[in-house]
Amino acid sequence: MRILPAVTLLAALCVAATAAQARPLESVRKEGTLRIATEGHYAPFNFFQGKQLTGFEVEIAELVAHKMGLQPQWKALGFDALLTGLQQDRWDVVIASHAITPERAKAVTFAAPHYCSGGTIVSLTPRLRSASDLKGKLIAVQTGTTYAAEVQRLPGVQAVKNFPTDADARSALVSKRVDAMVTDRFVAKELLRKSPAAGFHLGEMVTVERIAAAMALGNTGLADAWSQALQAVMADGSYAKVSQKYFQEDIRCPAAR
Ligand code: ARG
Repeated sequence: MRILPAVTLLAALCVAATAAQARPLESVRKEGTLRIATEGHYAPFNFFQGKQLTGFEVEIAELVAHKMGLQPQWKALGFDALLTGLQQDRWDVVIASHAITPERAKAVTFAAPHYCSGGTIVSLTPRLRSASDLKGKLIAVQTGTTYAAEVQRLPGVQAVKNFPTDADARSALVSKRVDAMVTDRFVAKELLRKSPAAGFHLGEMVTVERIAAAMALGNTGLADAWSQALQAVMADGSYAKVSQKYFQEDIRCPAAR
């Protein structure tokens, strides 16, 4: 093995230690494009229609970006990689149905919430309704979600099985490798609407969440500008239109009504 000269090693350590600086609002404005990252496997919030990224969050983010006078530039990648990419300045904003949690708020700066929802139990039987019905059961969740953490905390759950995407967790349910899954209530409702014959049953909500876009920790200028533009989009009727289109109701948080 070749031994690296101490200087090279030191230089490498320095590079690793200096995290890339997130672009502040001024530089984003100067350049004119807003780099937005999402997952693309979470219908109806963010998903692919063929090669086209679409969904409630994609449409809302585009409205917000245009209100800010910016051109949105999309990237889609694994849910788990989204928040860390902010610190590395790989994109300016993440919008992928992240709930505001105290833990995440230590790592990223959240904008104002763009919808309110919660994690709901989905199973193939009407018997699994409430959290206490999950005792002794195998529950599927998507890795890195609030549901993964919450279900882990429920007393008596036999095991929590993690899957890379929500769709993978659903496949495990359909093929009866698990007893139930926990996912967003609007994702679950859409599932029932799209596949009425599949035998899905919705149980109770196990979490209540405020969902928001995230920026790099401390990038408050950009987060505030986003929140202001979101508020304008909520006030001018365009938010309501997109919400009606996807959910047949307005899903903004009660505080934003
Ligand atoms: N709301 C949940 C959370 O905050 C799930 C988000 C999942 N998003 C996604 N694009 N798969 O963790």
